[in-house]
Amino acid sequence: MRSTLLIVAAGSGSRLRAGLHKALVALADGRTMLEHCLDSVLAARGDGALDLAGIVVVVPADPAAAEPLERVCRDVARRTGTMILTVPGGAERADSVRAGLDAVRGLAGADADGAGERHAVLVHDAARPFVPPAVFRAVLSALEAGAAAVVPGLPVVDTIKTVAAAAPAGDAAPDLASSPAAPEWVTGTPSRTALRAVQTPQGFDLAALQAAHRAVDGPGATAPADRDAAALTDDAMVMEAAGHAVLVVPGDPLGFKITTPLDLVLANALLPDRRPDADEESP
Ligand code: CTP
Ligand code: MG
Repeated sequence: MRSTLLIVAAGSGSRLRAGLHKALVALADGRTMLEHCLDSVLAARGDGALDLAGIVVVVPADPAAAEPLERVCRDVARRTGTMILTVPGGAERADSVRAGLDAVRGLAGADADGAGERHAVLVHDAARPFVPPAVFRAVLSALEAGAAAVVPGLPVVDTIKTVAAAAPAGDAAPDLASSPAAPEWVTGTPSRTALRAVQTPQGFDLAALQAAHRAVDGPGATAPADRDAAALTDDAMVMEAAGHAVLVVPGDPLGFKITTPLDLVLANALLPDRRPDADEESP
C-alpha cells in the first residue's frame, strides 16, 4: 500500500530542557534527532516495509529553528533520492499534524483522490530515533488488511493510578498545609492488563484521518469540547473521537520517545558506534 510519512518535528522540547527545539538536539554521535528518525524510516523502506510516496516533515514556525531542520531534509532528500517536503507547524502537536496533512494530500496525489486506491499516512514523532523496520511493517500490514487506524503498543510496566485534587470521602483528611505540592488523591486503578503504552508511527487511511481531524477542528466540529488541540496527544484519539476502531499491533521498546534528559542518556547508550575512543585515530 502506498504511504506517506508525516513526521512531526515542530515541538519545543520543554521537558528535555536542552535550550533548543528537540528535533535539533544532537545525540552523542553529533547527528540530530531528526536525522536519526529519517534514518530509521529509510531503513524501513530499504527493508521493503514501506512503499513511500514521500515524507512530509513539520518544522517549527520560527524560521531560525526551521532552517537547520530544512537543511537536514534537503541533504537526506538529495542523498537518498527521497521526496521530502517541509511545512511550518502549530502550537500543539495536533495543530502540527493538521498543517502536515494538507502537504501529505498533495504528495499522495491521485492515490488519495477517491477513485484510486486507499493511501496510508503514517504519523510519526521526530523524537523517536530508533524505531525498527518491524514496527513500520506491522502497522502497514494491518492497514493493508483493511484497518482504518493502527497504533503500535506495549504492555504497561507500572501500576497506573487516576488522580484528582479533591479528597475522597472516608478517612480523616491529613493536614497538608506545609506541603509544597498540590495534593492529589487516587480515584482509581485501571487494570494493567487492559492498558497499553502507544508509540508511533501510527497508521491511518489518509481520507479517514483528514475527515476525523476536520470533525474535531473544522467548521461545525462535532467532537466533545474536551478534545481541544492540547488534549489531543496522539492521532488515534482523533480517530476514536470520530468513531473509528483503532487496532493495536506490537510496538518495540526501541520505539521509545525522547522526552526527558534521562531518555537522552538511554538513546546515547544505544548508539551502535558509541565507544569512548570512537573519534580517535588508531595508533
Ligand atoms: N510536536 C510538533 N508540534 C508541536 C508539539 C509537538 O510537531 N506543537 C512534535 C514534537 O516535535 C515531537 C512529537 O510531536 O516529535 C511528540 O511530542 P513531544 O514529545 O511532546 O515533543 P515536544 O512537544 O517538543 O516536547 P515537550 O512536550 O516536552 O515540550
Ligand atoms: Mg509536547
